[in-house]
Amino acid sequence: MSIIEYKNICMAYGEKTIIENFNLSIEKGEFVTIIGSSGCGKTTILKMVNGLVEPVSGEVLVEGNSTRQADLTMLRRNIGYAIQGSVLFPHMTVEKNIAYVPNLLNKKDKKRTEQAVTKWMNIVGLEDSLRGRYPAELSGGQQQRVGIARALAASPDILLMDEPFGAVDEITRGSLQEEIARIHRETGITILFVTHDIGEALKLGTKVLVMDAGSIQQFAPPHEILHAPATEYVKKLVEKERRRCHLPEEKLGDCEYSGAV
Ligand SMILES: Nc1ncnc2c1ncn2[C@@H]1O[C@H](COP(=O)(O)OP(=O)(O)OP(=O)(O)O)[C@@H](O)[C@H]1O
Ligand SMILES: [Mg+2]
Repeated sequence: MSIIEYKNICMAYGEKTIIENFNLSIEKGEFVTIIGSSGCGKTTILKMVNGLVEPVSGEVLVEGNSTRQADLTMLRRNIGYAIQGSVLFPHMTVEKNIAYVPNLLNKKDKKRTEQAVTKWMNIVGLEDSLRGRYPAELSGGQQQRVGIARALAASPDILLMDEPFGAVDEITRGSLQEEIARIHRETGITILFVTHDIGEALKLGTKVLVMDAGSIQQFAPPHEILHAPATEYVKKLVEKERRRCHLPEEKLGDCEYSGAV
């Protein structure tokens, strides 16, 4: 069974139609990277999963249940959401931010929550000494890690990530990519990950969703995107990446894309 299914989705903001007849099935455990032109509806697609946006028509099924009928609080407990920029609670320390959902889930067991915080800080590469700091006392990259740790600390089945590594330097970005790939391998979590970087999309995704103007250009594993681009739009994206990698066409398959870092 698909863990997320978009069925005949149409979406408009006011008069403006953004998405029409959008259909997509995502299997459990998939790492779906989403790439496409600015304003084509990527964030909107993501927000439909946790009910932050409701489609005008059609429905989104999460683990078989329509988000229209879902208890949104319950739904969101099972879905981590990490977005670019800091959306941390400014008046809470790193520890309190990460502990927020675990605290809700095991109110009485403080020790368990504390252990969960330690575990996730460790996984995303945050030093323990940062526990007592407030978001304003952290660098952008550290804030992003806290955001990811907080999203993961609830042990969700689904993780939505909207350009999560946008504001960090190349090296930090590389290590965050490795961490998220490892988390995916080790937990079997289903990830939807929006990026503007085709290299990142191909490197991390077990499947890549390429969108343009509210419609699907291609939804396929990285090697298929590279070797059998379905549309001109995808072809152009791939061409750009090939130039970046300095690779001739026949060599592209040897680039580091395998669905995991
Ligand atoms: N709350 C809103 N009210 C009106 N229009 C909106 C709203 N949210 C998004 N839009 C419009 O819907 C379209 C899709 O927006 P969305 O945020 O999904 O795009 P995106 O693909 O994530 O873009 P980007 O790559 O720039 O983040 C855009 O044209 C945007 O201006
Ligand atoms: Mg967006």
